[in-house]
Amino acid sequence: MTEEDIKSITDNLHPLERKVLPHIGKTSSLKELTEKSGLKQVEVMRALQWLENKGLLELHSKKKTIIELDSNGKEYTEKGLPEKRFLRCIRDGWLQFDEIQERAGLSREEFNVCIGVLKRKAAIEVKEKKAGITGQGLKILEKKSLEEQLIEKIHKTKTDPESLEDEERFAYESLKKRKGIIKESAEKTVQASLTEEGERARKSAARGNRKKDKDVVDRLTPGMIRDSAWKNKRFRKYDITSPVPRIHGGKRHFVNQAIRDIKRVWLDMGFSEMTGPMLDTSFWNFDALFTAQDHPVRELQDTFYIKNPEMGKLPDSKTVKRVKRAHEDGGDTGSKGWGYKWSEEEAKRNVLRTHTTVLSAKTIARLKRSELPAKFFSVAKCFRNEALDWTHLFELHQIEGIVVDPDANFRHLLGYLREFFRKLGYDKVRVRPAYFPYTEPSAEVEVFHPVKKRWIELAGAGMFRPEVVKPLIGEEVPVLAWGMGLERSIAEYFNIDDIRNIYNNDLKMLREIKIWRD
Ligand code: PHE
Repeated sequence: MTEEDIKSITDNLHPLERKVLPHIGKTSSLKELTEKSGLKQVEVMRALQWLENKGLLELHSKKKTIIELDSNGKEYTEKGLPEKRFLRCIRDGWLQFDEIQERAGLSREEFNVCIGVLKRKAAIEVKEKKAGITGQGLKILEKKSLEEQLIEKIHKTKTDPESLEDEERFAYESLKKRKGIIKESAEKTVQASLTEEGERARKSAARGNRKKDKDVVDRLTPGMIRDSAWKNKRFRKYDITSPVPRIHGGKRHFVNQAIRDIKRVWLDMGFSEMTGPMLDTSFWNFDALFTAQDHPVRELQDTFYIKNPEMGKLPDSKTVKRVKRAHEDGGDTGSKGWGYKWSEEEAKRNVLRTHTTVLSAKTIARLKRSELPAKFFSVAKCFRNEALDWTHLFELHQIEGIVVDPDANFRHLLGYLREFFRKLGYDKVRVRPAYFPYTEPSAEVEVFHPVKKRWIELAGAGMFRPEVVKPLIGEEVPVLAWGMGLERSIAEYFNIDDIRNIYNNDLKMLREIKIWRD
């Protein structure tokens, strides 16, 4: 490195680096540097890492074993070792075991250890659950034992087991056998040593420090601008290449981003939002949509029925009668109906809505002639009693829409969908014939995925049948209708293979996933 480089590095030193650098010798430990610099240990560590990134020093970390006091050990530094407390109790005469244990404040375990230890040292005699002190015991009571000395030493400073004297080692081995007095743990020590560049930088910084250290500032303050003090300051240059912690700003969940955006798209196209309860009667979810009462989708394995309240309320009797007729013989809809006896009880059963088309049915039933033409959408949750797998959720969102317009036709339907998908980034849209109980003609809508280069099916659509429209509106008006799964579109957009992963809420994924359509 040239002198210039070194100078530029030293000019850019962070105040923490500036404070630590002068103290680094051939090798210096983190502890030493913390003491000398007067900084906090984390600050020194940070400075050392930055200096290492710049190639000014090398960090070596070593692990070594140290002995520390464990919980009992700490307690004994205050209360004294159990065996000492034991002996003190019986200094003046023989005592019952129970009494000793209580007066010396020992646990059963500690008491038993004491008996063993003290007998071995010939400090006590034991007879009929009583203990008495011996001459040897009185001597022991007078002076500090090796164990006590060692506990005191460890209490003062964490100790390296390698550094113990022979006698200490003996005490150490015996304390190690007892419960919770001492423990060994690994301590990491960090050592820093300057590289050749570091050595030069330290000298250069020292020269700089002497000259105009006071004029190097980190931060421009309003005060400096007010009194023009900045003119005489040198500003620390920032190293914009140095690694910094990643910051994850808060943001909306990507599903909610998508919902907001899709709602915006429909609003921009002049649609109004339909909302309604997630729980509704079969009447609105199925019957009003001319779905036969024995249609397989109504079965338990496809639909969640509600136990309590099991039954809901039907709408006005006129609407109910018209829907009933549409099912039984077609009534005035020009259809023959399904040709069965329509059950009111079946229609009353409460369900978790299986599609948001239920909202379309309720909306057209409420519409007044004077409100036509009208356009509605919804983006809302619905439920299917399905086994959860990589393509199926039992709780999902649907995007729904209707256009009620005396002048509308099937080509308009394609136009609306084309426009919607174009806004979502799909330029090519095609339809294929399909079947839904409530539409005729019915279509399956596919879009061409520009990246995956294949057609994907995203929506169902069609024009509501007279069997749906006439009973609800009272006359035949063209109603364009469509519905599609939101999660399907989201999975396609973000390339999520397993649809369940949309709701895993894995933090890493939530942080890294791109923004919806921006
Ligand atoms: N309700 C249909 C579904 O859940 C979609 C659809 C809505 C089809 C409206 C035609 C008309 O898949």
